[in-house]
Amino acid sequence: MKTFFLICVALVSTPLADAQEISPADHPVDSMTKVKFALAIHGGAGTIERGKITAQREQEYRAGLESSLKAGYEILKNGGSSLDATEAAVRVLEDDPHFNAGKGAVFTSAGTNELDAAVMDGKTLRAGAVAVLQHIRNPVSLARMVMEDSPHVMLSGEGAEKFAVEHGVKLVDQKYFFTQERWDALQRMKAAEKNRHAASTITDQDRHGTVGAVALDQQGNLAAATSTGGTTNKLPGRVGDSPIIGSGTYANNATCAVSATGDGEYFIRATVGHDISALMEYRGMKLAEAAQTVLDKVAKLGGAGGLIAIDQNGQITLPFNTAGMYRGQIDADGKFAIEIYK
Ligand code: GLY
Repeated sequence: MKTFFLICVALVSTPLADAQEISPADHPVDSMTKVKFALAIHGGAGTIERGKITAQREQEYRAGLESSLKAGYEILKNGGSSLDATEAAVRVLEDDPHFNAGKGAVFTSAGTNELDAAVMDGKTLRAGAVAVLQHIRNPVSLARMVMEDSPHVMLSGEGAEKFAVEHGVKLVDQKYFFTQERWDALQRMKAAEKNRHAASTITDQDRHGTVGAVALDQQGNLAAATSTGGTTNKLPGRVGDSPIIGSGTYANNATCAVSATGDGEYFIRATVGHDISALMEYRGMKLAEAAQTVLDKVAKLGGAGGLIAIDQNGQITLPFNTAGMYRGQIDADGKFAIEIYK
């Protein structure tokens, strides 16, 4: 995996005539056709401070982000759609127990795992979302099925899982989602409820986390995808911002694609994704300013978190108001980066 990015680094500033290798350098350089594509991902925002995370652990997070970027990048490089790229990037993070989505989902107050996800296609404004899933390994793919194979935008709970089975998706046992780390976080949260002192040991990472991807493909189409286990100790049935179109997930070719992470209740109330798009569409604001403006609105309400967003030119912004956010990008100039801290 390391090799992939070492190759990228080596080639990124080299004008490539025949880029057969995996390299961002082959994607944006044709000034005649202006073919470009770009991708950003996140693996959650929170109290992620340098020095509080071991080198080994940091390496594991970076490896997960790298695999996710690579999955999406391969699709975009080969002319695939932003929808395919964002779904593929998110699936990798859903399968990685380090991130709060799919396999690494946090626990509800009842000790169960309930997952939410959404996708949105910026070209058609079609969207699909799923909520309160208990037996779906890759919620992001089911969200896509809801968009493409049902007349609806959102399905939840048992109905969503029945739809999944009818469309050939295999259910997994709740045991699949068990990780000791998430279980321990639930116990800490429960202890904190009883004991004010214990509250100081609770981190944002204990409380939430989410994964997501946004992309611009070579056809000029934007897409967004988000997936989450929600928040630790949430009430069963609680739905966060991730599957709410216009809050945690939004894409519109006229403006931008957005995927958010953080305290879902605040991101819902601030209608984050659509607000960013609306500032661009109606006020003519640039992406970065619009994204920061809306994140400031979340903070004013009392919410912590971050977001990733991309526009029609492949410009990317990744603001957050926490100590860190797991994030990565390959921008329209072929530059890639994986970062964790501020
Ligand atoms: N941002 C994810 C959630 O609150 O569920």
